[in-house]
Amino acid sequence: MRTKIELITLAKQMPKAELHLHIEGTLEPELLFKIASRNQITLKYPSIDALKTAYKFNNLQDFLDIYYQGMSVLLTENDFYDLTIAYLAKVHAQNVVHVEIFFDPQGHLERGVTFEIQINGIKKALDEAHIKWGMTSNLIMSFLRHLSEESAFETLELATPFLDKIDGVGLDSSEMNHPPKKFAEVFKACRKLGLKITAHAGEEGPPEYIWQALDILQVNRIDHGNRALEDTQLTAEIQKQRLTLTVCPLSNLKLCVVDSMEGHPIQKMLQLNLNATVNSDDPAYFGGYINENYQALIESSDLTEAELYQLAKNAFEGAWITTSEKTCHLVELDKMFQKSPPYLYT
Ligand code: ADE
Ligand code: ZN
Repeated sequence: MRTKIELITLAKQMPKAELHLHIEGTLEPELLFKIASRNQITLKYPSIDALKTAYKFNNLQDFLDIYYQGMSVLLTENDFYDLTIAYLAKVHAQNVVHVEIFFDPQGHLERGVTFEIQINGIKKALDEAHIKWGMTSNLIMSFLRHLSEESAFETLELATPFLDKIDGVGLDSSEMNHPPKKFAEVFKACRKLGLKITAHAGEEGPPEYIWQALDILQVNRIDHGNRALEDTQLTAEIQKQRLTLTVCPLSNLKLCVVDSMEGHPIQKMLQLNLNATVNSDDPAYFGGYINENYQALIESSDLTEAELYQLAKNAFEGAWITTSEKTCHLVELDKMFQKSPPYLYT
């Protein structure tokens, strides 16, 4: 049996896919101050340290209030490029080989930053990471659920000239009192356009919101999904549909979705045969990128080597890539775990 230190090393070294990552949530305080300064924006916080001390959250809304303030420094294509390339360089060094990135267009449009500026800056960095490191990516446009469905439709309209650069749509921001059914029509339009569908559900919201994400939005996967565990029929349905859950351990801890890392439900999800994955959500705010999320889980649980393998495998299987791309990634993953067919763990 491997020691915890060996498991952490393996987690760091194994090839990984990250499926739940808000690019605006990767804005580290240092870069935030640098961009604010060049854009001549005066921040509410006098220093990087003062800003960091504000990163204490009792719930999702506490975090979102600071997250929207933070992203307000992003104005130019270069700002979006610098933000994205900094994240990609960081996770390339963590052996991430495929990323699926959310961006929040409405959070920038309302400040006068066009869709074109946002997507060109992000895309330039994604293309560069592909050329330089062979890293592949998908881009997910996320609708802000505290805004109206009409606003989501307006955003979809603005996105129309760029649909060749967008792989899917998501639903994020304040979950409580903004159920998925509020966005039934706009997601129907997105499905018709051939976009993949995902939605944050069951982070703070009840199992009913996850049901709506399944039945009304017809999601291809679920972001978070923690509260699915309160409803056995729901977990059976998620299992039946083989839906991936993009779980975010450090985020859950920092937003008080779980009381402690020891009490995190991800092992329970695996035991229920749910396709749980490990992701960082908003790493600049929650104290760690994907490797730190794996490390925190391993340190505070009895996660086994087989479970570690399953988490990494689930991410490649849940990624919006071709079957042959999945197979190539899994071959590399298996090499790290010194497996050859027939596999020890399935
Ligand atoms: N936007 C950025 N991070 C989020 C999260 N964890 N939940 C909902 N909306 C978000
Ligand atoms: Zn999220």
